[in-house]
Amino acid sequence: MAKLENQVALITGAGSGQGAAAARLFASEGASVVVADVNIETGKEVTNELIKSGAAAAFALCDVSDATQVQAAVQLASEKFGRLDVLYNNAGLWFSAQGNYRPGFTDAPSPLLEENIWDRTIDVNLKGTYLGCKYAIPEMRKVGGGVIINVSSIAALRVGSGASDAYTAAKGGVAAMTRTLAVFHAPEKIRCNCIFPGAIMTPLAGPFTDEYVRAVEGHVPLGRWGQPEDIAKMALFLASDDSSWITGAFFVVDGGYTAV
Ligand SMILES: NC(=O)c1ccc[n+]([C@@H]2O[C@H](COP(=O)([O-])OP(=O)(O)OC[C@H]3O[C@@H](n4cnc5c(N)ncnc54)[C@H](O)[C@@H]3O)[C@@H](O)[C@H]2O)c1
Repeated sequence: MAKLENQVALITGAGSGQGAAAARLFASEGASVVVADVNIETGKEVTNELIKSGAAAAFALCDVSDATQVQAAVQLASEKFGRLDVLYNNAGLWFSAQGNYRPGFTDAPSPLLEENIWDRTIDVNLKGTYLGCKYAIPEMRKVGGGVIINVSSIAALRVGSGASDAYTAAKGGVAAMTRTLAVFHAPEKIRCNCIFPGAIMTPLAGPFTDEYVRAVEGHVPLGRWGQPEDIAKMALFLASDDSSWITGAFFVVDGGYTAV
């Protein structure tokens, strides 16, 4: 039997990268998927692809930092598919400097970090996670339980080549919040776990100059960048009953980067 048969999953940031890979994998395992993204073009593209493959899918135009839009995405799941079982808080952004620091445009160590970058980074990565939980948990209660998958980053565990104080703080907050969510909602049979992706080859981690690609590979004991599917497989494990006795836990998926 498929691992997510009769399950409904809402995946934020599902128009690209890890979210899109999870949308495909969850759908192939029987889930109905709400593809939520602020990017209407890519979000619709992934949704149409899923529908063409025979899956049940719907697109929600959703900026996760906007309470009304997050509420509407959750509503779409229950109105269109009758329930909500899985919330994958995957949407995120990183104003990467990549050796090209620009005040007001890139993340940075605090003395160089402008407030607009701090605010947007926290709003999307951290507040977006809170809003997802705020509106999804009441729907999960209606069906007697559910699963929340949060997305932190190895940036919350180890300092990389460039300090991004806003991104690090947001992802650290997501990790800490995972534990309070897990403990508080365990009696309601709502599980909540957190994935810490390493360097994954998606638009967020670019631009991919040859030098940058090789430098990162050199820091990864398994010798390669992660692909979105590497994370989607972990997300599927956490969404399914295979992880039915796991909550409040942290899963680092990084090719060994943080073990060094
Ligand atoms: N790529 C990496 O190396 C890496 C490493 C660690 C953690 N992460 C985290 O993984 C998650 C997925 O990122 P990815 O690597 O797939 O990147 P990506 O850029 O391929 O995808 C991110 C998606 O989120 C969407 N998004 C951005 N802002 C949004 C908003 N306000 N509301 C709704 N959607 C929004 C984008 O449109 C995009 O579709 C993010 O939370 C990211 O921080 C990525």
